[in-house]
Amino acid sequence: MIQDGNGLRFSADELARRLVGTGARSGPLYRQLSDSLAELIERGELPPGSALPPERALSEALTVSRTTVVAAYQALREKGQLERRQGSGTRVAPDRNRETVSGLAGDHAASQFLSGPLATIDFATAALPSLDLVADVAAGLTRDDYLRLTSTHHGYHLRGLPALRERIARWYSDAGTATAPEDILITSGAQQALELVARGCLQPGDGVIVEQPTYRGALEAFARTGSRLRTVRIDERGLDVAALERLLTNESPRLVYVQAAAHNPTGVVLADDRRQRLAKLLDQHEVVLVDDTSLAGTAFDGRTTPAALGTHERLITIGSMSKLFWGGLRLGWIRAVPQVVSRFARVRGITDLGSSLVAQEVALRLLDHRATAETERRTALPVGLRTLTELLGRHLPDWSWQDPQAGASLWVRLPHGDATHFAQIALRYGVALLPGAVFSADGSTDHHTRLPYALPPATLTQGVTRLAQAWTDYLNRTTVDVTLTSAVT
Ligand SMILES: Cc1ncc(COP(=O)(O)O)c(C=O)c1O
Repeated sequence: MIQDGNGLRFSADELARRLVGTGARSGPLYRQLSDSLAELIERGELPPGSALPPERALSEALTVSRTTVVAAYQALREKGQLERRQGSGTRVAPDRNRETVSGLAGDHAASQFLSGPLATIDFATAALPSLDLVADVAAGLTRDDYLRLTSTHHGYHLRGLPALRERIARWYSDAGTATAPEDILITSGAQQALELVARGCLQPGDGVIVEQPTYRGALEAFARTGSRLRTVRIDERGLDVAALERLLTNESPRLVYVQAAAHNPTGVVLADDRRQRLAKLLDQHEVVLVDDTSLAGTAFDGRTTPAALGTHERLITIGSMSKLFWGGLRLGWIRAVPQVVSRFARVRGITDLGSSLVAQEVALRLLDHRATAETERRTALPVGLRTLTELLGRHLPDWSWQDPQAGASLWVRLPHGDATHFAQIALRYGVALLPGAVFSADGSTDHHTRLPYALPPATLTQGVTRLAQAWTDYLNRTTVDVTLTSAVT
């Protein structure tokens, strides 16, 4: 997406990826497309003035006929949502009442719009189901507990419930990384923590290094600040720290974002020798290192590494209750030196006066059950993974992957083609997928897709069966394309 004199200009592939996040629809294809485009316009993801790709390019990206795109654009022009401008193609019409946003947030944005007659299976989200423990602990809170909470304070704790900050600090200290409550800022999920890091540390033009692939909510938070994103690949042992070191020397970036404990989307845990080397880089380079440990506690071998990179004045560790316990608590935290915590608290105060104390009271008690929660996760997750890989082996034998060591998603390599186009076909067969490109800063991981496995076996079975049908359809289409291309060349 680039900015031109009149607004944003979307390439066909970028638009195709955004369309994956719109609702499942039925009816003629052109109508489905025009409704989905209208939804993106309404949501502000295609702001007024945005230039849409030419019909032919979009038809290729979506593997539909050009007539379908022409009819969809025409329908939106008739409704006044698009306009054709002489010399500058098709653009979104101006609308003063519409709010604009620059991107989707996190992994879950795509799924929340999914509904409709196809009963689409949501493979776009890799969230973990709540543990029963969460309900048990929440139900254990009594009226007296709530009275203690409500009667002692007005309820606005910008930095978080003091008892929870103390509890988290103690957990780090017990695990060998001395931490004080002043080092902890409770946030509304790790996503807010990322937003605070981005706003608190970055200026337009700052260099940011991210893993390739990485968590897309982080990419979006960093991109919004106008920073320049550079990438370092990861392999089966995690981040290529030697390559990172070279980039640090050559480019002097402001910030590096990693997931050392367990990585979304690949499930890789950073190897010990690389982790040690990564931690040492902070002594050699003037850079802020952000370690997002949201998935910590989901490692299949039971390894818990709350602060695997130790302590440093330029190290920021992000944690979350979402993966181990439940995303609905909407609680995470930042661990950093007190001056940095204070800076982030000020940034936070602009938009939010603190996270829910009721949720924090539940989280406080849940943290006493961390070991039980970890055992439950490392029992259930590998079972889901086995189910998914067996299904893939049976129905899609030429898809490949590295076995994850943690987390709830499989990073799958497609043997042909690209996932942006395949995701369009998969949606028509009733499966919402995120193309690999959305997990990378430059879109270059599009020969991959991410499949979740923390789902009931019946959902996995139905989802993979539909994907196999979609794949056959996709292969037929791409084979036809190749034949046609070679016939004319
Ligand atoms: C690596 C990573 N960071 C942050 C988040 C956001 O988590 P939360 O639910 O705590 O906002 C996620 C959620 O998917 C994630 O995978």
